[in-house]
Amino acid sequence: MSMRQRLSDLATPAFVINRHAFRRNCELAQTSAHANGIYRLRPHVKTHKTREGCLIQAGIGSDVRDGAPASEGELRTSNAVRKFAVRLSVAPQILRSHHLLSFIPQWSDSSYLTEMASQHKCGPFGDILLGIPICKSKLSAIGRLKSDLASATNNEGVIHLLIDNAQQVEFLEDFIVNSPSANVKWSVFLKIDSGYHRAGVTCDSRGVSVATKIIDSSCLILKGLYSHCGHSYSVNDKLEMEKVTEDDHNVILEFLKILSDQLEYHGSSFDTFLLEVSVGSTGSMSCHKKLSTPNNVDLHPGNYVFYDRQQLFTGACTNESYIAGFVLARVIGHYDDDVRNAIMIDAGATALTKEGTPQGGMCAVFGRPDLECYRMSQEITMIRLRDGCDAPFPFEDFPLGSTLLLLPNHSCLAAACFDTYYVVDEMGGQLSSTCSVVDTWIPVKGWA
Ligand SMILES: Cc1ncc(COP(=O)(O)O)c(C=O)c1O
Repeated sequence: MSMRQRLSDLATPAFVINRHAFRRNCELAQTSAHANGIYRLRPHVKTHKTREGCLIQAGIGSDVRDGAPASEGELRTSNAVRKFAVRLSVAPQILRSHHLLSFIPQWSDSSYLTEMASQHKCGPFGDILLGIPICKSKLSAIGRLKSDLASATNNEGVIHLLIDNAQQVEFLEDFIVNSPSANVKWSVFLKIDSGYHRAGVTCDSRGVSVATKIIDSSCLILKGLYSHCGHSYSVNDKLEMEKVTEDDHNVILEFLKILSDQLEYHGSSFDTFLLEVSVGSTGSMSCHKKLSTPNNVDLHPGNYVFYDRQQLFTGACTNESYIAGFVLARVIGHYDDDVRNAIMIDAGATALTKEGTPQGGMCAVFGRPDLECYRMSQEITMIRLRDGCDAPFPFEDFPLGSTLLLLPNHSCLAAACFDTYYVVDEMGGQLSSTCSVVDTWIPVKGWA
């Protein structure tokens, strides 16, 4: 029997996934979404961009062990799928249920998921929403992707596009009427700005005019409204988080109201209650309450699969045992002098990125709250005892050449620095550099 590689045997820096925590995070997200009675999950796959991660997010990957995917039969009878099937009463269609939507922001992800949809006979990946506003240069590729998805899923798969500008409606119409399948309407979600002030129309007559333009279009279907409360990242306490979440909901409810008033005024028969509503973020995930509207509502968290140092600050991640994404680094310097009293490791900005947090700092050492990473360059980071402590650094805990696990500030960005993820499967408390690698996951890379 071949000996398994240990984390400490790997070339560093390396990206490490603790599958045990990953699975638990996904199960908890599904449970808490469904516990609200109305929320479905539309997991965002941008954080990991892997086949294995998608399956676990959708609740069907729990049987993937040691790199060997479970057989179709095993997947279907796994507890996770049975639970969903019972709850939703849609088995065997559960594998194509829109309750398990995949939601993706990057073009590279979407072609990958289409391939997965085909491999899994649609699987849970037949309903895909491209999570960034659409641009003209992507339309030919999307046209091809739509037809690939249609043939992979027996015409059941659908790709929704995100719109937040009237010009997008115009270039989409122009493209669709000149395409071979001009008679098939394209499905779109309207992005609403609920306070993050990134993408999205404003909740007023200008935003509503984009919605009515889509509704009046002979080429498009307005399928839903989408708001992402990404400003939850800078929140420090539960009350503030509840406020961000409430604002997210209120903006959607207000938008539905002014849209429906406007439509009624113009005698339109469009039913705004049929619009799907997608809200949320990882930070706000546990604060969402039942929305006072009959619309179908889903949550679209992404980062929750790994969590990170930032989500420890927001409180969405309650302790380090939930962290599932790490950067493994090696100790390459001991500086036992009055000025430094520190060690150096071989992971810097190219492995962790320089993404900051409102609370400061650049990353943390797993299991060592007594230490701080205080200086980062391209390829290295310096670590010392927390500010204010002038005791000698515990060099004996970190021999030269030894490895340690780091919590990135933002795991989505750190993961994107690597082309392979090394997977371990450990209860939080048992995670260390001596753990065995049980699998490798390869993320999707590149852009169209
Ligand atoms: C449009 C959109 N939706 C959903 C998400 C997922 O948010 P989070 O990673 O906070 O869960 C993101 C993250 O950037 C996003 O940009």
